[in-house]
Amino acid sequence: MKNLKMTKMPELPFDVQEAVNQLRVNIGFTGDSIKTIMVTSTIPNEGKSFVAMSLWRNIANVGNKALLIDADIRNSEMRDRYGFASEDGLVGIEHFLSGKLGLHEVIYTTNVQNGFVLPVSTNVIDPTILLESDRFKKMMEVVKENFDYIVVDTPPLNSVADAMNISKYCDGSILVVGSNNASRKIINETINSLKRTETPLLGIVLNRVDTSRRGSAYGYYYRYGGYGHYGRYGQYGRYGEEQKKK
Ligand SMILES: Nc1ncnc2c1ncn2[C@@H]1O[C@H](COP(=O)(O)OP(=O)(O)OP(=O)(O)O)[C@@H](O)[C@H]1O
Ligand SMILES: [Mg+2]
Repeated sequence: MKNLKMTKMPELPFDVQEAVNQLRVNIGFTGDSIKTIMVTSTIPNEGKSFVAMSLWRNIANVGNKALLIDADIRNSEMRDRYGFASEDGLVGIEHFLSGKLGLHEVIYTTNVQNGFVLPVSTNVIDPTILLESDRFKKMMEVVKENFDYIVVDTPPLNSVADAMNISKYCDGSILVVGSNNASRKIINETINSLKRTETPLLGIVLNRVDTSRRGSAYGYYYRYGGYGHYGRYGQYGRYGEEQKKK
C-alpha cells in the first residue's frame, strides 16, 4: 500500500480532544452496525472536514483500523489543509470512481497509526455521475469489509445533491453546526431532509463555539460545543425527543 504523510496535523487543545473522545464514545454506543459515518453540515465552512479528520484520528488512536474518505470531490481542501504528501504520488477517489485505478491503489497508509486515507487529488467540477455510479456503492461495500470504521467527509447539504447521494451508502450521519453560521430555520430543514433519508442522524456537533468569554486562550475555536447523542442542545431537543419515543 502507498504511504501518505499528513504534514500539517493540528495539535488539539485538551478540551477539544475530550469533546472528540466523547463523540467517538457516543458513536460506539450507537451499536456495532454503525461503521460508515458521514460528516456533513448545512452550509459551507461549519467545520465538517475538521470534525471528520479529528474523529478519524481519534478512532485510529484507540486502536481501530480507521479509514478517512474525502468525498468532497467538488471542493476538497483536505490535502492542502493537512499537508498530504506522498513519495508515491497523490492519486485519489476520482481516479477510482472514474475507473482509472483500483481501490487498493488510492487508499494510503498514513503517519497516523491504524489510520488510512482515501484522498481527493484533483477536484472535479461535477462529480454527480461519479457519486451515483456503481463504483461508489461497491467502494463503500468493500471498505466496510476491510476497516473497523470509515469516516466520510462530504460537501454541505444545502448546496448540491452530493451529500444526499453519499448518505445512501453510509450507516449514519453526523451534522456539524457552526454555532454562528446557519439559521435555525435552515438547520431544521437540513435535519428534516436527513430524516427523510434512510440513514440515521447519529448526532449533532455544535462546533466553533465562542467560549472567549470564559477566558480561553484559544478564543473562538477552542472547543466543540459538544455532541448531542440525538441532539441534546436546546433547539435540537425536539429532534431528540422524537427519536427517543421511537
Ligand atoms: N473546532 C475547531 N477548532 C479549530 N479550528 C476549526 C474548528 N472547526 C473548524 N476550524 C477551522 O475552520 C475552517 C473551516 O473548517 P472546515 O474546512 O473543516 O469546514 P468545512 O465545513 O469542511 O468547510 P467546507 O464546507 O468548505 O468543506 C478551517 O480553517 C478549520 O481548520
Ligand atoms: Mg470541508
